[in-house]
Amino acid sequence: MSVASKARGSVAALQALTHFATHPREMVHFATHRREMMDVYHEYPEKFVYEFPVVDFRELLEPEQRRSSLQLDFEPDLYGDVSWQELVVLSSLVAHYKPKRLFEIGTFMGKTTMHLAANSPPDAKVYTLDLPQENFEEIKKNLATYDESLVVDGRKPVGFHYRRSPWANKIEQLFANSMAFDESKYAGQMDFVFVDADHYYPSVVNDTRKAMAMLSRKPGSMVLWHDLGPKTDVERGIIDVVGKQGVFKIKNTKLGICRV
Ligand SMILES: C[S@@+](CC[C@H](N)C(=O)[O-])C[C@H]1O[C@@H](n2cnc3c(N)ncnc32)[C@H](O)[C@@H]1O
Repeated sequence: MSVASKARGSVAALQALTHFATHPREMVHFATHRREMMDVYHEYPEKFVYEFPVVDFRELLEPEQRRSSLQLDFEPDLYGDVSWQELVVLSSLVAHYKPKRLFEIGTFMGKTTMHLAANSPPDAKVYTLDLPQENFEEIKKNLATYDESLVVDGRKPVGFHYRRSPWANKIEQLFANSMAFDESKYAGQMDFVFVDADHYYPSVVNDTRKAMAMLSRKPGSMVLWHDLGPKTDVERGIIDVVGKQGVFKIKNTKLGICRV
């Protein structure tokens, strides 16, 4: 990014802050419509400048094998879900590379979990990790950060989507704080890891380290991250753990990918 455009960005941010300070109603509007603003970001992410090269996901597939049948279930999106475009990308990568062991950090309502299970080989196994749900309020109090928006808006129980799907038997739900989770049992075993839990820097670093430790390093194995935005903790965390070499931002999504 040029110095001029950085300066323009800072001036715009300062103007917005000054404006909101004197127009509290508009501040409320901004807060309540941030999801629509995120949609703009979903639709036009290439307007932003990333630290990683941007790749069209079709370039990640072998040319002679770009045709695949996918199992897709387009539930309406809630805050915290991946977009339908991201579901297509994740499902396509799974259908294409046929990972046998998959691990997701951050289950939420299990929409992605279900797609990982639905599109992987019949004998594949999907592990998915989320915070323990018993005494959740107490657990939250002990977390350094938690995105409260995830627990509003009619959130259904953890794993809701996959639990009522035909692929539930391929999935093992794990409950732990990823910061305390001992990944050594799974070290070097996972062909596909999806990192999508807490997006603050210490969590991203922790989850990324554990994802890399669990990765099998077989040809075709990969780690993906969600909510990769420019100048975010996710971007910074990936760079600090993995570096920039071999990491890409997938076009028209907020997904990052590192392949072996
Ligand atoms: C953005 S949602 C995940 C969305 C999901 N991967 C999907 O594609 O539908 C983040 C999830 O991570 C969980 N989470 C947040 N902090 C966590 C932590 N420290 N350990 C484990 N899970 C965490 C939240 O409870 C939430 O369910």
